[in-house]
Amino acid sequence: MRKGFPKDFLWGGATAATQYEGGYDKGGRGLSTNDFVTEGSHRNPRKISCKHLNGTTELLDRENEMPSDAVGYIMKDIYYPSHKATDFYHHYKEDIALMAEMGFKCFRMSISWTRIFPKGGIQGEEVNEEGLKFYDSVFKELKKYDIEPLVTIFHFENPAYLADHYNGWAGRETINCYLRYCKVIFERYKDLVKYWIPINEINVLRGYARLGCKQIDATTRYQAMHHLFIANALATKLGHQIIPDAQIGCMLALSGLYPATCKPEDVMGALEFRRRALFFSDVMMRGYYPSYTESMFEQLNAVVQKEDGDDDIIASYTSDFLSFSYYRTTVYRDGMPHKTDTGGQMGEQNPYLPHSDWGWPIDPIGLRYVLNELYDRYQKPLWVVENGLGAEDHIEEDGSIQDDYRIDYLREHIKEMKKAIVKDGVDLIGYTTWGCIDIVSSGTGEMKKRYGFIYVDMDDKGNGTLERKKKKSFDWYKQVIQSNGEKLETEGEKYV
Ligand code: BG6
Repeated sequence: MRKGFPKDFLWGGATAATQYEGGYDKGGRGLSTNDFVTEGSHRNPRKISCKHLNGTTELLDRENEMPSDAVGYIMKDIYYPSHKATDFYHHYKEDIALMAEMGFKCFRMSISWTRIFPKGGIQGEEVNEEGLKFYDSVFKELKKYDIEPLVTIFHFENPAYLADHYNGWAGRETINCYLRYCKVIFERYKDLVKYWIPINEINVLRGYARLGCKQIDATTRYQAMHHLFIANALATKLGHQIIPDAQIGCMLALSGLYPATCKPEDVMGALEFRRRALFFSDVMMRGYYPSYTESMFEQLNAVVQKEDGDDDIIASYTSDFLSFSYYRTTVYRDGMPHKTDTGGQMGEQNPYLPHSDWGWPIDPIGLRYVLNELYDRYQKPLWVVENGLGAEDHIEEDGSIQDDYRIDYLREHIKEMKKAIVKDGVDLIGYTTWGCIDIVSSGTGEMKKRYGFIYVDMDDKGNGTLERKKKKSFDWYKQVIQSNGEKLETEGEKYV
């Protein structure tokens, strides 16, 4: 039996370019769909700004369909959080030095697709050397500190050109563009990056901003998903050909799900709802569409076109590991609509759990539950690549940030991960907490929903000096990493 975390456990933090990198118009980068997504808040959902063929502009609900004559458009006097984000583009050296000071073994980040191919990699398009150079510098900086990069290739931002010309992932041509992009980055970074995630949270992708598709009906969405499965399999194949020791994993939003009662309808309903998430890992980890696909597509009214050979591709190149984000659990009651948000599946509140200021239940035991659920199902290495508490931080008079609530949240989740490893024998290879440095919230567009160990001076409207500042949790996490997850308490320690 293991005694604790494996010796080479990959502790670290996670980010995404569209929420962290900024420099949206710098270095030859092209526009991506997320660059049209406005600020927002918990109560005022973010919008997409678009322009119609006749020249009129409109702000659309991000979850709704985009009219077929419209394209994404940047309006004056609107604040778009992805444009500057928290400016990793100009601060990467300083930020990576801070991560190194915390002892990070691993840093999860994404490459901004349009920084490499401004139009997305269409036939004959030239690669943007300046974009490649930027990531050369970032990966070299990480190497300097022996921090292993974990790179997400596609994290919530589609090249606007592909969205507007091919309807994003609903169009099969997007697979070819994506693979051109993958080939370029695999070849360029083969000596610097070993761990890759082709697609972030495939199970919560929909609509224009995240999937590049104007329609939101089930046929469009699942057709896009089929294309993503092919893209994932072929990227896995390509990655292994170019980087022999590469580890390439799929990634899902997999917060946990419980039935509301022991009423059989609730239990069966919860199982069916859970399949709406596990469907994706079933395909990518096992290599085939699961037995319940037909009835699920029938219920959804989804019709998916496959080409000859697609099933073989999916079967031949399955993922090496399953990574997932875990923030919370939720509760399913018979008859509820099947909803998701950035935290994963969404049902009703659990009366036994406290919740964050954004209403996300806090459930560390749920993490052990999910780790077991996934390991029992797939028997392949798992990686928690997102976990954390989005909370508002306050700067004390002495300048410190006493984020004990964040420490408490992370500590309890780490304890449960340890139990999953030690008691349940789960093969868990790493843990990268979400938003290790403050970044823009993807769900709400706010800055005040902070996850970081490092505070960034910026408000919801993008005002601030961008100065970086350590929170109390900074030294705490450093100690966690140093002790390989053994020293989790703060008592007796002085953190300023
Ligand atoms: C995950 C995403 O869904 O959850 C991240 O991969 C996101 O991009 C994170 O930021 C937390 O969600 P939010 O809405 O609090 O930013």
